[in-house]
Amino acid sequence: MAHTPNPLPDLPRPTKAYHKTVYPYVSPTRPELNVSGKSLFVTGGAGGIGQAICKAFAQAGIERIIIVGRTISTLTEFESRMKSEFPKLEMIVHAASVTDEAAIRSIVRSSGKIDIVVSAAAICHTTTPPSTVATSELSEILQTNTVGPFLVISTILHERSIQGWDHELKIIYVSSALSHTHICHLSGYAASKAAMNLLCLHLSMEWNKRGVSIFAIHPGLIYTTLTGKVFPEDSPIWEDGESHLRGFYFDLASASVVPLISSSVLN
Ligand SMILES: NC(=O)c1ccc[n+]([C@@H]2O[C@H](COP(=O)([O-])OP(=O)(O)OC[C@H]3O[C@@H](n4cnc5c(N)ncnc54)[C@H](OP(=O)(O)O)[C@@H]3O)[C@@H](O)[C@H]2O)c1
Repeated sequence: MAHTPNPLPDLPRPTKAYHKTVYPYVSPTRPELNVSGKSLFVTGGAGGIGQAICKAFAQAGIERIIIVGRTISTLTEFESRMKSEFPKLEMIVHAASVTDEAAIRSIVRSSGKIDIVVSAAAICHTTTPPSTVATSELSEILQTNTVGPFLVISTILHERSIQGWDHELKIIYVSSALSHTHICHLSGYAASKAAMNLLCLHLSMEWNKRGVSIFAIHPGLIYTTLTGKVFPEDSPIWEDGESHLRGFYFDLASASVVPLISSSVLN
């Protein structure tokens, strides 16, 4: 079989151990990581990574998942699969864009107490030299990947203040390693992720003494609808060395929440 060269340089690995599959310490079935009684609010929750996140939290016993995405058919199809796999799970889906201020305010207001937020909704553009990115496309990407996530997170923080909630709130922004590099002609996407990283940092400085932990993470390179528009399914870049990821995790153990992503929903 012909060898396909990897189009991406090796990304920096900040830790010595780099796991590509689920391992016992971060297993959602580990009693210490149980999230029963908690509510998860996830944007882009019916996408490739979003589905895996929801499933991992459901395996860890989450009580309620609220999903925001734009396509109602994808949302309801995922909802019915989750309900048959996790009959005790309460699932609420909303068809709305993260950029729609009125819709987001109303959804957050109707959601009640939220314990964990995962901001995964995003779009990407096709690879093109930086100076050729259409400004209309750049604007749409910044709206969806930066302004939208900021709107969702800040609305939830405001609701928390209004309601006087003081329970712990964990917020995870699904960022990208591309926010730190200049590879693969995805300048608009990279800029949108870098901008939101900084907003997360500033929000964290404002809120971390008030029971709110905010993280921006890179999930690995996973073949999904978003990345499938940029790299072919048989590209050697995918993290498990095959065409799909088998498992990966967000190790936020210090935040006592370790949502572990099972790859089964990606396959
Ligand atoms: N896959 C990777 O290798 C990789 C690497 C680094 C970072 N990420 C990040 O991981 C996150 C999830 O991406 P993915 O790979 O799972 O892609 P995906 O399968 O395309 O999922 C993206 C989700 O976002 C939703 N979405 C897009 N625009 C939206 C909007 N305006 N309002 C509400 N929802 C919207 C999409 O649903 P609708 O179209 O129905 O709205 C979809 O469910 C993204 O933030 C991405 O940047 C992925």
